[in-house]
Amino acid sequence: MKDGIREMTMSDYPEVAALWQEVGMWPHAKEDRAWLAAALGRNPTCALVWREQDHVIGTVIGAWDGLRGWIYHLAVAESRRGRGIGTTLLEAAEARLRELGVGQINLMVYEENAAAHAFYLARGYQHSPVKVVRKRLLSP
Ligand SMILES: CC(C)(COP(=O)(O)OP(=O)(O)OC[C@H]1O[C@@H](n2cnc3c(N)ncnc32)[C@H](O)[C@@H]1OP(=O)(O)O)[C@@H](O)C(=O)NCCC(=O)NCCS
Repeated sequence: MKDGIREMTMSDYPEVAALWQEVGMWPHAKEDRAWLAAALGRNPTCALVWREQDHVIGTVIGAWDGLRGWIYHLAVAESRRGRGIGTTLLEAAEARLRELGVGQINLMVYEENAAAHAFYLARGYQHSPVKVVRKRLLSP
């Protein structure tokens, strides 16, 4: 298979999970195989992987909830960073969301992830005055 972007499918799950584990995005509460299947089922065109030599080395999940677009789980394997893959994945997910009619994208970044804040600010994102609050409906 050619290197580059393609839509994520459940056959990518083992490598996607391994990548998220490597970059510290895994495991989140209930973000398991069923969680990913549900996410792909709702937004099948907006979750993307970057493959090289038939391995997943980057991911992004774009999601539309009917009101806003969201970006989740943008990640590139540490050994492949700094070559434009993260930017390409982000812009591709944005383009897919735009095609669905999304007018605004939100995303959540941990306060302490200064590198990711800088990454997004350099790519047209702005700090939002909205503070995220949350309530757990399932135990972690
Ligand atoms: C953020 C991330 C996806 C960027 O991927 P990438 O393929 O290196 O991105 P690009 O090559 O397109 O761009 C490199 C940019 O990322 C920045 N960057 C952020 N963290 C970096 C890191 N750990 N290594 C290299 N570059 C990093 C570089 O400074 C560079 O910024 P600039 O071009 O504005 O100067 C990647 O660093 C990553 O997976 N980080 C860990 C997971 C994470 O924090 N994701 C976002 C959380 S919501």
